[in-house]
Amino acid sequence: MRHLLNPLDFSVDEIEQLLDLASDIEQHPGKYAHVCDGKKLATLFYEPSTRTRLSFESAMLNLGGSVLGFQSADASSAAKGESVADTIRVISCYADIAAMRHPKEGAPLVASQFSTIPVINAGDGGHQHPTQTLTDLLTIRSLKGRLSDMTVGLCGDLKFGRTVHSLIHALARYTGIRLILISPPELRVPSYIREDVLKEKMIPFDEVDNLDDALPKLDILYMTRVQKERFFNEEDYIRLKDSYILTAEKMKLARDDMFILHPLPRVNEISVEVDKDPRAAYFRQVMYGVYVRMALIMTLLEVKAC
Ligand code: NCD
Repeated sequence: MRHLLNPLDFSVDEIEQLLDLASDIEQHPGKYAHVCDGKKLATLFYEPSTRTRLSFESAMLNLGGSVLGFQSADASSAAKGESVADTIRVISCYADIAAMRHPKEGAPLVASQFSTIPVINAGDGGHQHPTQTLTDLLTIRSLKGRLSDMTVGLCGDLKFGRTVHSLIHALARYTGIRLILISPPELRVPSYIREDVLKEKMIPFDEVDNLDDALPKLDILYMTRVQKERFFNEEDYIRLKDSYILTAEKMKLARDDMFILHPLPRVNEISVEVDKDPRAAYFRQVMYGVYVRMALIMTLLEVKAC
């Protein structure tokens, strides 16, 4: 039995197969409409989410399966003091696969150690968000036709943003990747990412605080919001929250074939006027998130289309 806890749990070849399956699902959704008939997905969300939870639920429903779960820790027995280990043992009796989001780093890993069904990490604290990374990889591959040989700009809260941490791990395995890390000095990537991933894998990267200078060099711009809920002090959040605002005017600096991605939710960092720019890909990215989660559920449940 396999879980998905970390973006590196699948090899580059396995990710390619998963993305191929997701692209086939996009082309021929009817072929997959009943592959999970009779199967159940449990969504165990101890932290708020709109997209990720509904994306998982939509994915399972599209495959013919059904869903159960809870949307907040208050609505679960966690409020009574139940451990993640006990909850997953119980859920293992009710469902065939579980997606878990938790504010504590490592909670889905603990769950996987006590589970008899596959566990998917749907975001653990400021640590990892592997299914957002699969979404990002599918989006980049679909839009650019490749995952190698490109300059990717990651902009915003690179310290607390788990989507950024997971994406850096994943991109570091492809050739010819160059990263421009755009953030205020206080929100730079954690040192374990800089030392253990970027330097270790010899990925060329620059850490800068100016978005305008970086824009003309990018193939992909990955914008992120400042992660309010992970700040220790509100004053810092207020000072940093509007560090970057991508406007139509700034987009004049970007190449015609650059795409903007964002894991969403957006706060102020992309002004709504940018939405009509053909390079704005963040709502298309949401659709790719459903296809890739369908492919992931099928892969972990080992079901195939006839
Ligand atoms: C992200 C997350 O939860 O980390 N959202 C998502 O799952 N698409 C990004 C964020 O909350 O900023």
